[in-house]
Amino acid sequence: MHKITIAVDGYSSTGKSTVAKQLADWLEYVYVDTGAMYRAVTLFAMRNDMIAEATVNTAKLIAALPSIQLEFKKNGSGKAEIHLNGENVEKDIRHLDVSEYVSPVATISEVRRKLVEQQQKMGEGKGVVMDGRDIGTVVFPNAELKIFMTASAQQRAQRRYKELLERGDTVSYQDVLDNVQERDHIDTTRKDSPLRKANDAIEIDNSEMNLEDQFHTILQLAKDRIAGRV
Ligand code: DC
Repeated sequence: MHKITIAVDGYSSTGKSTVAKQLADWLEYVYVDTGAMYRAVTLFAMRNDMIAEATVNTAKLIAALPSIQLEFKKNGSGKAEIHLNGENVEKDIRHLDVSEYVSPVATISEVRRKLVEQQQKMGEGKGVVMDGRDIGTVVFPNAELKIFMTASAQQRAQRRYKELLERGDTVSYQDVLDNVQERDHIDTTRKDSPLRKANDAIEIDNSEMNLEDQFHTILQLAKDRIAGRV
């Protein structure tokens, strides 16, 4: 069957990865979580003392980029997990401290160039659902289907707070909300590849949508593109 490229962009904690994964499973496409790649680079920087007092040592990180190898490998249940220089860091990259530093790291053009190149290679053969911030605008400007997800900051913080509590993290709702708003600000105002809706992207505001409705809405859009109906 004709395969397409699906780009899912949007604000943090809008459920991009949930719907992108569902879609990839249903269509038997490859799913790529590009946020995990920026998070893994951030974890590398944190572990190698390149971040101190909330400031990233940009020069040191750029110099170290060739020594950062990222790879997605499937775990026993078929879920793709990110490996940083051979180590599975899927859990470590989800902590709030990584979330705090990832947006500044993602403003560094050299970091973006390295990751975008790898993402474009992963999507070369089409049949890919990729989620992030710049997929429809920079990574795959010719993607056949572009989705742009939004929801209110409060809704998103509430979802993320619940997830972190379920994972056993000790956080306050206010800290999570502050982080969501801070990341929105950095992601939308950075110079290189800011988060914005591509002209041909379809906006989905899921503040009041349940997961099932959201999935079926987007799946129908994908089916139409695959069948060449749109
Ligand atoms: O999707 P996420 O919350 O895991 O992404 C983490 C951060 O990475 C986010 O604040 C912005 C950055 N990011 C990016 O700049 N470009 C992407 N394609 C994906 C993520």
